[in-house]
Amino acid sequence: MASSSTIRYFLNQGPSLWLLVLVWTVIFSLTESAITIQLKGEAGGNVTFKCPVDNKRTVSWFYFQRGDVFLNGYHASRTIPNPILENTRLEPNSTHVHMFRLNISDSGMYRCIIQYNDIITEDKIQLTVTAPYSKPTATKSCDDVRCLVTCASYGGYPGIKVEWIIPGSRNTNSPPWKVENNTQVSHQSTMLVDSSSTVNFNCSNGELKNLSCSVGNVTSDLFSVCNPEVKPNSYTPLKIAAPCVVLLLIVIAVVLCCWHKKGQTGKDCRENGNKEELKYLKELCKKEGEKEDPVDDFNAP
Ligand SMILES: *[C@@H]1O[C@H](CO)[C@@H](O)[C@H](O)[C@H]1NC(C)=O
Ligand SMILES: *[C@@H]1O[C@H](CO)[C@@H](O)[C@H](O)[C@H]1NC(C)=O
Ligand SMILES: *[C@@H]1O[C@H](CO)[C@@H](O)[C@H](O)[C@H]1NC(C)=O
Ligand SMILES: *[C@@H]1O[C@H](CO)[C@@H](O)[C@H](O)[C@H]1NC(C)=O
Repeated sequence: MASSSTIRYFLNQGPSLWLLVLVWTVIFSLTESAITIQLKGEAGGNVTFKCPVDNKRTVSWFYFQRGDVFLNGYHASRTIPNPILENTRLEPNSTHVHMFRLNISDSGMYRCIIQYNDIITEDKIQLTVTAPYSKPTATKSCDDVRCLVTCASYGGYPGIKVEWIIPGSRNTNSPPWKVENNTQVSHQSTMLVDSSSTVNFNCSNGELKNLSCSVGNVTSDLFSVCNPEVKPNSYTPLKIAAPCVVLLLIVIAVVLCCWHKKGQTGKDCRENGNKEELKYLKELCKKEGEKEDPVDDFNAP
């Protein structure tokens, strides 16, 4: 090796020169590993670690490691049992490592260690794996005096708190609302986080409009609170039932009327039971009930 004869030469020159070589080597190594490359990926996606390499020199071996754990790489003269980390592939004749199906747990510092003929270099690559949060949804639960609104977003990383966007709320010292809680729950296996918050709105000052909530850079649809007209539960069963009840009363009235008329005239009034006459019939029935007078022109065409 060329370097060993150089070292021997320096050794013969005395300790001060030898020290100079050492210092030079340390500074050189430090400059080689001074940069940390930042790499970003998304959970379930892929990334490529492009370990910096000096193409003018011959690579003896390349180790891609996490701490002291060998993950992938190659050796010019020895065979390395193929890749240890199942979701990595090495690009042929290169120091580029592809990593597939990223997990949050793949985040961390990776080391690119390259042995050339005369020197070993190391570069660090910091991988950050994130996951996008779902669009937050707001669910309301209101009574006459207050509204509890829960805003929730799922499956993101890292943990981010829910932000409430309430127009005009900065202008008051005591806003008519209070954040009950703001929690991040992390799933043990995937490390993905569900973020949610509940706010208690005091409805005595009336409606609040154009509210929204956000988690990171995803924002919910606009919504309003303390507005009885917009409340989804204003469609009470009573409102739906009311027209049915009216219809039923009309039918009963008609049936009763026909029955009554049949007794009086012997004719079935269903023959004339035109739908447009239903209301008229009902009124006639009422009159008949009051006066007991036979209505002669009832059967006229
Ligand atoms: C990741 O790489 C695999 C294999 O090449 C490919 O099938 C997949 O579509 C890639 N996924 C993304 C999100 O790029
Ligand atoms: C937050 O507060 C609301 C209202 O008090 C409650 O219903 C909900 O369970 C709480 N959520 C958490 C995660 O503690
Ligand atoms: C990613 O995480 C899932 C769920 O914990 C696990 O089943 C899978 O083996 C992990 N994948 C890798 C490549 O570590
Ligand atoms: C709601 O606000 C009104 C007026 O600002 C106040 O009198 C009332 O005590 C508040 N209610 C609650 C439950 O805080």
